[in-house]
Amino acid sequence: MRIGNVLACASVVAVARAATWSLKDTYSGDDYMSKFDYFTDKDPTNGLVVYENEETAKSLNLTYVDNNGNFVLRTDTVQQRSEGRPSVRLQSQATYENAVIMLQVSHYPTGCAVWPAFWTVTSNITQWPTGGEIDILENVNDQYPSDLVSVHVKDRCSVSGTNQTGTTAFSSCYAYDNENSGCRIETNNTNTATAGSSFNSKGGGVVAMQRDFSSGGQGIRVWIWDNSESMPSDVSKPGNTVDPDQWGTPAANFGRLSCEGGGDAADLFDAHKIVFDITLCGDWAGNAYSLNAQCPSKYQSCANQVGESGSSFDDAYWTVKNLYVYETGDSSSSSAASRSSPRYAPYAFGATLIILTVLLL
Ligand SMILES: *[C@@H]1O[C@H](CO)[C@@H](O)[C@H](O)[C@H]1NC(C)=O
Ligand SMILES: *[C@@H]1O[C@H](CO)[C@@H](O)[C@H](O)[C@H]1NC(C)=O
Ligand SMILES: *[C@@H]1O[C@H](CO)[C@@H](O)[C@H](O)[C@H]1NC(C)=O
Ligand SMILES: *[C@@H]1O[C@H](CO)[C@@H](O)[C@H](O)[C@H]1NC(C)=O
Repeated sequence: MRIGNVLACASVVAVARAATWSLKDTYSGDDYMSKFDYFTDKDPTNGLVVYENEETAKSLNLTYVDNNGNFVLRTDTVQQRSEGRPSVRLQSQATYENAVIMLQVSHYPTGCAVWPAFWTVTSNITQWPTGGEIDILENVNDQYPSDLVSVHVKDRCSVSGTNQTGTTAFSSCYAYDNENSGCRIETNNTNTATAGSSFNSKGGGVVAMQRDFSSGGQGIRVWIWDNSESMPSDVSKPGNTVDPDQWGTPAANFGRLSCEGGGDAADLFDAHKIVFDITLCGDWAGNAYSLNAQCPSKYQSCANQVGESGSSFDDAYWTVKNLYVYETGDSSSSSAASRSSPRYAPYAFGATLIILTVLLL
């Protein structure tokens, strides 16, 4: 009995130290079409695109599974398109709250006018910014050498910008500050290619976002690895569990946010859908078009490029392998996982020592 109690205590210590994140859903190949919905409203960000339904997208080859089993989402490249260029915005049918979302990316969309994003957002978009938004991979016009990671919320909250390898560009997460930028962290490219053609030249990589507003949780953190560098083993070979606490300093650390009045930011995020899209021009890429000087010098204007130069969108495509979503397990599955996991070896060793001590006594 006594030994049993000691073991139970050791397990509790291990669980309290780190929540176990267990595989909930895996998406690959056709899943991106069957388990995601095609968003067909007008682009809320005013891009010069027509978001196509599943049938049209497939007939125009805008979404398909390639010969390697990867999912491809691309923008139409027919040379002239005067009524908006066909493109795709997919959103997951499933919604997630506290979760680790990990995506294997082989190709990131690049080019002038191109505004791609991989992000999560409230499932009720009409109430935005209520419910919140987390942008995991984003860029415009290849303008930034880094990935832009952003959070948008309805209240006046900010980020401290510590414990991250990236740089905080905007610290206010309030959705309407800084021309609706939200709080933005730009990743550091010194050791990792994190954006655009440099990321693609490494064959892409893996990005992971952890949202954890549970008690003791670290809030929102994002990591990114390119395929030429070493990755933690639960990232390079995803299995049934991941442990972000072992991944080192995140590229972007929003933490739990600090909100005016001391409110808990947990309440600012509801169940989120996962979204992939490519829009063109619009509120951001259109307004910032001239900031990449090569763009206007090649195509005059963003609208002109979209209307007249389909071949300029040859690289405007996502190629993704698997998408993994982990959620925190209950305490019984956590302790089971902790016993079989090597990283808890110190605790197992500790338990053994305690048992020996008890036996010796
Ligand atoms: C769609 O893309 C596939 C793969 O690249 C290609 O083999 C096929 O010919 C394309 N079909 C159309 C209609 O463009
Ligand atoms: C979505 O948000 C709108 C605006 O706040 C609200 O009127 C509507 O009831 C919400 N819909 C659902 C399903 O919660
Ligand atoms: C930064 O990391 C250190 C060490 O892991 C930790 O003690 C500290 O609380 C962290 N600070 C923030 C703001 O996350
Ligand atoms: C990026 O990381 C490198 C290497 O760790 C560091 O020397 C550099 O100062 C970082 N850049 C910024 C802008 O923080």
